[in-house]
Amino acid sequence: MSDPARPVIWSDGRRRSPDEPVATAVDHGLTVGDGVFETCGVVGGQAFALSRHLRRLARSAQGLGLPAPDEDTVRAGVSAVLTAAGPDAGRVRITLTGGPGPLGSHRFAPEDAHPTLIVLAGPAPRSPVARVARVPWVRNERSAVAGLKTTSYAENVVALAEAYRRGADEALLANTVGELCEGTGSNVFVERGGELLTPPLSSGCLAGITRELLLEWAAEAGLPVREAAAGELPYTVLDEAASGRVGLLLSGSVRNVAPVVALDGQDVEVGEVSAAARTLFEARMAQDVDP
Ligand SMILES: Cc1ncc(COP(=O)(O)O)c(C=O)c1O
Repeated sequence: MSDPARPVIWSDGRRRSPDEPVATAVDHGLTVGDGVFETCGVVGGQAFALSRHLRRLARSAQGLGLPAPDEDTVRAGVSAVLTAAGPDAGRVRITLTGGPGPLGSHRFAPEDAHPTLIVLAGPAPRSPVARVARVPWVRNERSAVAGLKTTSYAENVVALAEAYRRGADEALLANTVGELCEGTGSNVFVERGGELLTPPLSSGCLAGITRELLLEWAAEAGLPVREAAAGELPYTVLDEAASGRVGLLLSGSVRNVAPVVALDGQDVEVGEVSAAARTLFEARMAQDVDP
């Protein structure tokens, strides 16, 4: 078995050592963030919800104008890294970039493009609960890449560093019109009046796979979880969490469904629907690795 702290890497049809270069200095993913990615949790040595993640990878690539990766090739990469990583792998990451490109933001002609595809498996520390912090920066719901899972994550890096600095493990962002949007790597749900509400995709949030599964499974189970209407969840709803009138929950591929226990360093109570949502998610997740 490999060292669990070191990621297992696959690119261009074979395993690579962590010291081996897999992209050139002019890779457009590196120079301008021209790439897309997916992160899947790992359950019993298999990538969870891989088919949904591959569909979103293809959608993100299309949204960026990158050629969609060959699905069988990506699946072969995922299977190779998970076999090599053994039972300690907690996450799989698939990255697709424009490949070697000019130094500016323009691209080579499509016939000259050689996209870079990298698949990694690595550990994933998990916490059953989340601590969140409000940050002053916003998601641009009108961005050219709103809703796409691109490798341009510098805004998330800055926001998450600020959250960590303040003792939290996730930052919550508004959008440009003051609506609650999402976290740096998670979707958010608000428990209010006996139901769980999550911002609509029009808020500019990512269409999270965990969010989507929770909405579907809750509907089947009769648990009151729904997408909010536009404007129904202003960012100021977080003031109500701080004063104990609403609860919060995060969803994401590594954390799964995690109730929030602190906001800006203040305790937040876990609501009943949030607790039931977590139990439901874990039960359904154990039944089917590729729902
Ligand atoms: C910005 C952002 N929002 C939401 C999510 C949650 O999506 P998923 O449940 O597909 O992991 C992620 C995942 O990393 C993300 O990066």
